Amino acid sequence: MQTITHLGELRQALRVLSRPIGLVPTMGYLHEGHLSLVRAGRQECASLVVSIFVNSTQFGPTEDFSDYPLDLKRDQSILEKEGVEVIWAPTRELMYPPGYQTWVNVQEVSQPQEGRFRPGHFRGVATIVCKLLNAVQPHKAYFGEKDIQQAMVIRRMTRDLNYPVDIVICPTVRAPDGLAASSRNKHLKPEERQAARVLHRALSRAGQAFDEGERDADGLREIVIQSVRQESLARLQYVSCSDPATLNELEGRVKSQAVLSLAVYIGTTRLIDNQILG
Ligand code: PAJ
Repeated sequence: MQTITHLGELRQALRVLSRPIGLVPTMGYLHEGHLSLVRAGRQECASLVVSIFVNSTQFGPTEDFSDYPLDLKRDQSILEKEGVEVIWAPTRELMYPPGYQTWVNVQEVSQPQEGRFRPGHFRGVATIVCKLLNAVQPHKAYFGEKDIQQAMVIRRMTRDLNYPVDIVICPTVRAPDGLAASSRNKHLKPEERQAARVLHRALSRAGQAFDEGERDADGLREIVIQSVRQESLARLQYVSCSDPATLNELEGRVKSQAVLSLAVYIGTTRLIDNQILG
């Protein structure tokens, strides 16, 4: 396994890799969620590149960029065991040279949910993923359903810009108690870790109501609101019941499918989760 930080070196390495090539974009500090993408890529592709880059431009001014966890040594030893061919770990200077001014905006699907509360977030995500796809030119790229809006933004971007890449979306990996794996879970104190179960609990309750016939979008959102309210350490930022094709908020009856998603503060840690209904 090679860890590469320069573009020339990457191009040379790519030339000799067997096809198809898979790419798993990450910000490092790898956990089981990331590894599920790596394993899916390992199964489907002859060569696998994992990128590690903590992308400053997708963090808001008050967000946790400065204390985002990073441990390249640890990630390298994990990925070596997974049989990854290349770690692409570009420098900030390479990704955003002085005077940088080129951005990718995926207009509509970036707007609701996370886009409302994290303005500029998906512009940063789309731009860096665009640059990672340009550098690696993979046949397949892997994203997690945990960040469903991100995956949809990327899918839209690659269709709109005619990237010859297959965007694969992998299921959310959870702890046995339902909490979705996330780098941010490490900020949770023990009692907050217990409280964080409320995200999945709230979604599951609404999911169960849906399975029992509840089709009113407001009714489904209300179940989530009430469930989160029962956890004193949790503060709901938003709950959304949206159209899976557009992520636009649904009003009235859910016809066939919906995406139920939420963002919750547990103390100062912001967590997101979602569940597809139907
Ligand atoms: P990061 O948060 O490191 O996540 C990398 C990938 O892992 C994303 O596709 C994310 O959806 C997926 N992932 C995270 N937790 C998961 C879980 N519990 N189950 C399944 N997949 C999970 O997302 C980013 O980095 C960045 O925005 C990035 C795409 C790398 C662009 O900077």
